[in-house]
Amino acid sequence: MKDTDKKEKTLDPDDWDEFQALLHRVCDDVVDYLKTVGDRPVWSELPEDSKKLFTEDLPTSGSRYADVYNEVKKHILPYPTNNIHPRFWSWVGGTGTPSQVIADMIISAMNSGSLGLDETASTHVELQLLDWLKTLMDYPSNASGLLVSGGSMANLVGLAVARTHAADYDVRKTGVDVQENSRLIYYSSTETHSCIRKAIELLGLGSESLRLVPVLDDYTINIELLKEAISNDKKNGNQPACIIANVGTVNTGAIDPLMKLSEIAKKENMWLHTDGAFGAITKLSKESKHLVEGMEFSDSIAFDLHKWMYIQYDCGCTLIRGGAPHKETFSVIPPYIKKFERGLASGPLNFSEYGVQLSRSFKALRAWMALRIEGSDKFGDLVQQNINQAKYLTNLIEENQNLELLSPTSLNIVNFRFVNENIDNKRLNDFNAELLMRLHESGDHAPSSALLNSIFSIRVAITNHRSRLQDFRELIEDVIKIGNKLLNENNKQ
Ligand SMILES: Cc1ncc(COP(=O)(O)O)c(C=O)c1O
Repeated sequence: MKDTDKKEKTLDPDDWDEFQALLHRVCDDVVDYLKTVGDRPVWSELPEDSKKLFTEDLPTSGSRYADVYNEVKKHILPYPTNNIHPRFWSWVGGTGTPSQVIADMIISAMNSGSLGLDETASTHVELQLLDWLKTLMDYPSNASGLLVSGGSMANLVGLAVARTHAADYDVRKTGVDVQENSRLIYYSSTETHSCIRKAIELLGLGSESLRLVPVLDDYTINIELLKEAISNDKKNGNQPACIIANVGTVNTGAIDPLMKLSEIAKKENMWLHTDGAFGAITKLSKESKHLVEGMEFSDSIAFDLHKWMYIQYDCGCTLIRGGAPHKETFSVIPPYIKKFERGLASGPLNFSEYGVQLSRSFKALRAWMALRIEGSDKFGDLVQQNINQAKYLTNLIEENQNLELLSPTSLNIVNFRFVNENIDNKRLNDFNAELLMRLHESGDHAPSSALLNSIFSIRVAITNHRSRLQDFRELIEDVIKIGNKLLNENNKQ
């Protein structure tokens, strides 16, 4: 070996045996961590000592692997979002599975770029997973699909294809042109997730192109008002381009009438996109899939695997019906990512022609392994278990005179609040917000909140395979206990 060779550096460990021993220790710790998750608080505040670590300057020289791991174990591991906890029901946080911890270690070791143009096992795993997802969604096998970071990106991809489909000019070349052409209008309900507005703004359509149609009492889109909005736009020279159906609204889990929306889209020659971020996964439950019947007629579907399919973060998916201008919306192939007939770059397709990203992680392995290990029926059973738990919780609320159900439980989200004749109506929102914070601070339960017709709601979103009926009984007991304590405190003031 030449002297100059000896000076060359690498990021591989100096001592592989020491590295292996540490990795074994990490494996043991991680398994313990997962096994005992329910014994720890669902939320606990980060101590000052830990916060201090996160203000330290950039380390210009390194430390021992084990020392850094010890810091992680002390200051990071105990203070997660904790969506893996059995009593976590905030936002739409998915739980993940232990099987995917194995996948994660392999993904990290392989560190595949997953371009699709590479003729590798990672490409074929991803394509197979997309085929399985089409089967689960009752979607045609010639549909195209793409794994993305999550629901926000999955919706952006679907809505971008809708734009190309609707514009009768080269929108990619000229940009959106409302001077020379009719404004393209997208329609959805007022319950639509904020990522839809973001996507429409990013696509250059402008949020003025998004019509948010009022909802009925069950939080589904008002079909008559939708028809009226479409008719008004046509009269005013705009072009109705796309309807966005909600399959599981973020606040209440409402499912828009899919057959009716599909009929309107067909009649008006409009694109039908479904935001099924979590609700689309209802398809997996044999008992409840009828609730989302008709979703398969959408031109595009956006959904998350990291929410109700219990896949580790992050993983979303867009499926687009065959024949749609999916590739035409995104394809740009410079020579440096050209495909060859043979060798490394002879893969089946280039994923970058179907979305925004070029380099992508091999996230497909997580869902692929989880589906092979568990089988899709088990996922369907767990989705049904969560739906049944939501019904159970709803009954507990309805039976209790101190609780008020605030929205119909159509899927897996339950909204309610504490009520008492001694609390002034104007103060009920603040009262319930305080109650929610105390629930979090107790470390026992983590629901989140929603604002429904200006009413503050404690919102329980159940996408959790670790929750048990007992957890919901305890939630109600604690809400009543904390609510009564707060009442007493208020009476003394
Ligand atoms: C209905 C709906 N759409 C879109 C999103 C955004 O998905 P993500 O957080 O994966 O970007 C969410 C997130 O909760 C959602 O509930």
